[in-house]
Amino acid sequence: MKRREFIKRAALFPVAVGAAEVAQAADFINGSDPVSLNPEPATASPDTSTEDIPLIVSAPMLQNYAETSIGIAFAVSDMANGFVVIGRRANLSDGKTFKCGGYRTTEINDRVIQVRITGLKPATTYYYRIGADRIAYKGGYDMKVIGTETDSHIYKFTTAGKGARPHFCVINDTHVKWEPFGRAIDKIARLAPSCVIWNGDASNVEETIEAQQRIYLTPDIRRRDYAAEIPYLFCPGNHDLRGMANRHLERVWMYRQPEERQTRDWDLGRNFAVRMGDIALIGLDTAEDKLDTNPKFAGLFNSKAYREAQTEWLRDALKRKEIARAPFLVAFCHIPLYDDNPKHNPGDVTPDDKDPRYSSDFAMWQRTCARMWTPLLEKAHCQLIITAHQHHYKYHAPTKERPWAQIIGGGPEMGISDGRKNKSLFPTVIEGEVRDKHLHITIHNLLTGDVQETFEFAKR
Ligand SMILES: [Fe+2]
Ligand SMILES: [Fe+2]
Repeated sequence: MKRREFIKRAALFPVAVGAAEVAQAADFINGSDPVSLNPEPATASPDTSTEDIPLIVSAPMLQNYAETSIGIAFAVSDMANGFVVIGRRANLSDGKTFKCGGYRTTEINDRVIQVRITGLKPATTYYYRIGADRIAYKGGYDMKVIGTETDSHIYKFTTAGKGARPHFCVINDTHVKWEPFGRAIDKIARLAPSCVIWNGDASNVEETIEAQQRIYLTPDIRRRDYAAEIPYLFCPGNHDLRGMANRHLERVWMYRQPEERQTRDWDLGRNFAVRMGDIALIGLDTAEDKLDTNPKFAGLFNSKAYREAQTEWLRDALKRKEIARAPFLVAFCHIPLYDDNPKHNPGDVTPDDKDPRYSSDFAMWQRTCARMWTPLLEKAHCQLIITAHQHHYKYHAPTKERPWAQIIGGGPEMGISDGRKNKSLFPTVIEGEVRDKHLHITIHNLLTGDVQETFEFAKR
């Protein structure tokens, strides 16, 4: 989308919901739905802003759920310096302001504001409000703030940690398809988990920041504030690496806080090992579904070294006290780590992924990652690996040789394949919750609205 078009769209669909949605919001507030829809628009201080277009053009998105930090991102329409006021009190009377950017300078940006909040307490609820200063920049000695806008809504979220509620949801392969994505977000709002793992292929091929902004910050769905109170974690899929903009997704979706990893792992900004109540959540990135040597990619991808670096990270992450002692260990990655279909390409067919034995010339599952990561996960008694990529929901029960279960989430296809009805193709929300000392997994079928299957896991 061209920048002008984006601004036009942003002005047409500001953070506030329309009249029909306000009615629905009232229903949700009166009913059992715990996620608020924001009924009020972002407001400009009347005497400071000189522009017609709102400066803040999205709800905030909570990125990188963690014990003591959070990332807060939102979209802006003009050169701005964003900030977040955050505190423990619901009225923010104890609020502390965090500006975007890091040391030395703040991050003046005309598209996406990213604010990193650190020093938080684990399993603690915080309230926050977003705001942005409109900047007129004419040169190194000639810059001023010409207006300040704040979102009138105060949001809240709860950090991860041993005391957090052990309840997650997983979405995957949303592929910029608004209908299934909207259904997933509605389901998640009703389930109200502590966090959501977005398990890859949020993108198709994205060449511009505007396109990425639309996927994560201003999606064409009813709940524009879908990630304002439920924090997200991200395991990239192969499509999330494709296109010039996706080579720097961190401009829209932040990397994790650097202090959460060793200097050796400086570039592993997506991997996570997070304790949430009785569950340890492990996030891995299986990277591309084609080999680095595939001529299609002209030597411009580096998945091999990335996967090897993650192996060392994983080895150490599993030894961390809060991870090693968690009663349940669940790992997430986009491309499956197991497959029993002999026609499915295992992703290690050199040099160009082509082999007549297989039904595709790209990886349907990742044997290389499986050989590096699953022995470590097995040693740690991982009960479940949740994956995606195949666009077809499947459950692989554990066996004697493979003591962990694998769930493959469904894709965005709504019961139709090549113009024909196919009820086996449906999007899913995978829900995990610890109740009665067991991890309960529920597969929600977003095509029928029914529960597809349920599973129960004992402590490791
Ligand atoms: Fe996909
Ligand atoms: Fe994929």
